[in-house]
Amino acid sequence: MPVITYIESTKTFFLETAASTYVLRIREDGILEHVYYGAPIGRDDLTHYYAHVNGNSCLIAPQEYGTIGRGDNRSPSIVVRTADGRTVNELRYKEHRLLAGKPRFEGMPQLLAGEKDAATLEVVLEDAVDGYEVSLFYTVFEKENVIARRTEVRNVSQRPLTVLRVASAAVDLYGLEDYEVMSLDGAWIRERHIHTRPVLPGIFMVESRSGISGHEHSPFTALVEHGATEHRGQVYGCVLVYSGDHRMSVEMDAFHSIRMTAGICPDTFSWQLLPGDSFTTPEALLIYSDRGLNGMSQGYHAVCRHYLGKCSQPDLVHPVVINTWESVSFGVNEQNVSQFIRNCEGLDIDIMVMDDGWFGRRNDDRTSLGDWFVNEEKFPRGLQPVIDLCHEYGMQFGIWVEPEMISRVSRLYEQHPDWCIHTPGRIPAEQRTQMVLDLTRPEVVDYVYDVISTLLSTYDIAYVKWDMNRLITDNGTQWLGADRQGEFNHRYILGVYELMERITSAFPQVFFEGCAAGGARFDFGILYYMPQIWTSDNNDAIDRLKIQYGTSMVYPPFAMAAHVGAVPYWATGRTTPFEVRGDVALGCSFGYELNAGHLSAEDRAKINDQIARHHRIEDMIDNGVFYRLLSPFEDDYCAWQLVSQDQSRSFVMVAQRTAQPNPRTRYVRLQGLEPQRRYTLSATGQTFTGATLMHAGLPVPIYQRDYETRTFELIAE
Ligand code: DGJ
Repeated sequence: MPVITYIESTKTFFLETAASTYVLRIREDGILEHVYYGAPIGRDDLTHYYAHVNGNSCLIAPQEYGTIGRGDNRSPSIVVRTADGRTVNELRYKEHRLLAGKPRFEGMPQLLAGEKDAATLEVVLEDAVDGYEVSLFYTVFEKENVIARRTEVRNVSQRPLTVLRVASAAVDLYGLEDYEVMSLDGAWIRERHIHTRPVLPGIFMVESRSGISGHEHSPFTALVEHGATEHRGQVYGCVLVYSGDHRMSVEMDAFHSIRMTAGICPDTFSWQLLPGDSFTTPEALLIYSDRGLNGMSQGYHAVCRHYLGKCSQPDLVHPVVINTWESVSFGVNEQNVSQFIRNCEGLDIDIMVMDDGWFGRRNDDRTSLGDWFVNEEKFPRGLQPVIDLCHEYGMQFGIWVEPEMISRVSRLYEQHPDWCIHTPGRIPAEQRTQMVLDLTRPEVVDYVYDVISTLLSTYDIAYVKWDMNRLITDNGTQWLGADRQGEFNHRYILGVYELMERITSAFPQVFFEGCAAGGARFDFGILYYMPQIWTSDNNDAIDRLKIQYGTSMVYPPFAMAAHVGAVPYWATGRTTPFEVRGDVALGCSFGYELNAGHLSAEDRAKINDQIARHHRIEDMIDNGVFYRLLSPFEDDYCAWQLVSQDQSRSFVMVAQRTAQPNPRTRYVRLQGLEPQRRYTLSATGQTFTGATLMHAGLPVPIYQRDYETRTFELIAE
């Protein structure tokens, strides 16, 4: 089946995936019109289908990329200010190209696909009066049902232009009655909670204005048909491959058409385009699913695994780690890290990660960021003795860094007080007593690259946790002119991407984990460079149910680092059984956030069993299909399931938060099994057909306590 077709007689483009059709058309006046997006409809002629979609108003006809000042009064995709200060823009079709595969663009994370994997349409629009061109790129991933979009603006005039807004993608949807809009929102230690509300006339949007994708709102929205479930119903998803400021908006107009737009947040953005210059947006990934929310998530998980930079490495292995942070905090030194390592004797842990506190003069969060050399008081013999000890105990050594930061009390600040982001005349705003390095400046990027490279070349380091613990404030830099200060936030994130690209490609043997005060930069941009992210600083198993369930809406299980923590949990005071903490973390990239020496002998003895279970299901975490079954946002229960690609194995986790009086037995209906095949429950030896497990359900024993979990491993006969 051709994935992209152009029909000259009707000037219509058809973008077809296995389960969706996307149609756009060049109108006679040259406006690029959005015609249809949804379930497959073949290549029918829809020229007149939506002619009166918005009453008789041709001015607010469906658009593929709306402008401002010529009659379309909805939220524009692009706003360009000319040298005379006007913003009246109008885009008309100029030409188009069909391209095999997916053209790469520079400096930003993106899906990478060869000619066999994808096909691309580039439609070039022009504003002949203002003198700029806009290329809309659509790359179709047929199997995954994803359409990757981005936009490039080029100044083809002789005068400077300023781009005030430029969406990565926009889509005008018609005839969607009774839809809801979903977002993933939260805060530190309660990230990516699911929220939905009806789409009503007006605009709904989520944004980040803090220079990072943020704890508050994930760069994602979905339109969800009212009544759709995890398994059924229509869903339109939209996510940005971006780690900076975003705006995701859904606007319903007077005629109930819905415009869904994704891009850099215009509040903190402007970009000057001199004659001949161009600007490329981050990529947005659209998906249509008629298989409910799981259908949407599985498409996103699949493109991430197959095409997103480091996540797409075929032989990717996520190590089992143990991390010092929650037990040792800033107090790491040779003596107690050595003891921490010895406490791991006999445990099948792959990597010991020494978190914050090992460098400069760091004893708390007030000093030393930027001084990435070993604290000689804490480690008088350098790091080699603890690295050797790790090896002796069968583990590799991992380390924490926060490369984008600078402390006022640091050698780096003494040498380069002007390297922090600051506004002349104001004391830079500090958060966690730290400031951010101005990564829009190439010499600062070079410095950080050199100092981190030195660390990684000096020592045998297998794993790096790359943290980022604050927002961007004092936005701007004296190294840009007055007319370019609006470029600062985007340039900052381009600097971060350059640094991540250089460091991760210089040290391909090192496993990198992203982190930002837990999950404040959990996005596809970071996942391009680092194949997992610390999901949250909250390791409470009960809170994690919502955090992991919500995160899985877009991001695959392997991308979520999930660790067993100690109890009572510092953030909640809650005490959950060791098994429960393990069960909730299993199914993601697994590890421990505790000192094994502080555990009871009984709990300690459970670690190797948990790790063995992790290894039994690890291929499903990395390459399987993930299903959400029962939502902790709607139920006191939570359940999810992994199924291997060949459907021969499955892993199910069911949790109950609070005990119910006189409860009913729960039958959890599984998904994705082969109906005729018999599956054995490995714990009991009972066998059932896939059909029974999917339709009659898996009987889950009644729990008589709060905070209970059960896991089930299923193997086909
Ligand atoms: C925030 C991270 O999320 C934690 O896991 C830990 O690494 C601390 N920073 C260290 O300062």
